[in-house]
Amino acid sequence: MTVYAIIGGTGLRQLEGLSIRQSLAVDTPYGAPSAEVQIGEYAGKDVLFLARHGHPHRLPPHKVNYRANLWALKQAGAEAILAVNAVGGIHGSMGTGHFCVPHQLIDYTSGREHTYFADDLEQVTHIDFSSPYSETLRQQLIAALAAECVDHSSQGVYACTQGPRLETIAEIAKLARDGCDIVGMTGMPEAALARELDLDYACLALVVNPAAGKSAAIISMADIEQALRDGMGKVQSTLARVLKGQAV
Ligand code: HPA
Repeated sequence: MTVYAIIGGTGLRQLEGLSIRQSLAVDTPYGAPSAEVQIGEYAGKDVLFLARHGHPHRLPPHKVNYRANLWALKQAGAEAILAVNAVGGIHGSMGTGHFCVPHQLIDYTSGREHTYFADDLEQVTHIDFSSPYSETLRQQLIAALAAECVDHSSQGVYACTQGPRLETIAEIAKLARDGCDIVGMTGMPEAALARELDLDYACLALVVNPAAGKSAAIISMADIEQALRDGMGKVQSTLARVLKGQAV
């Protein structure tokens, strides 16, 4: 049986309904992860949970220790990672409340610790990253979203920006020209580090605002928080279905 880990993003600091057996403070060669790794049962299945931004939420996207987080989950026994990410919608089909299970990504971040192979120059390993997400996990998420009758896209290109500021209208127009459908700040280097550790990885993205210039209104944190509150029930029921293996 695959051991799943859920990485909760903004709006999912804790997994409601997770009965926690143990909270592990994992020490890693890369420093401390964002929070303790919670080990417990969700939807009747064993699962690990980690709050990406810490618990309480204290780490902005560029300060998250992605290397420590992935390392800690692997050390705690994770084999497959379901990452939850709040995103802005770029493509016209990616309205607020829509879900996307991206199949591709483009990394626009800079200056983040992004590899485990940084220090050993004689042993650089060039991982294959043609398809950054596990197709098996993606299909599990897509089937679960369909079974939950949640409005979703079964593919999309995720743009990962540096943040913490949101983008300019011109930047979003450039991302659209690059072929990006959604934009977030936490998808990378998380996905690549998972691949370096040989962990299956997929992203469940919830659109919480139209990206800059995609609506007439200014993007407000209050609206984003409302969209997160509105969407979290669906995130949880979708994850529960994947864990139960009853997605189809
Ligand atoms: N841009 C980048 N990251 C985001 C956004 C956005 O519009 N919304 C939520 N995360």
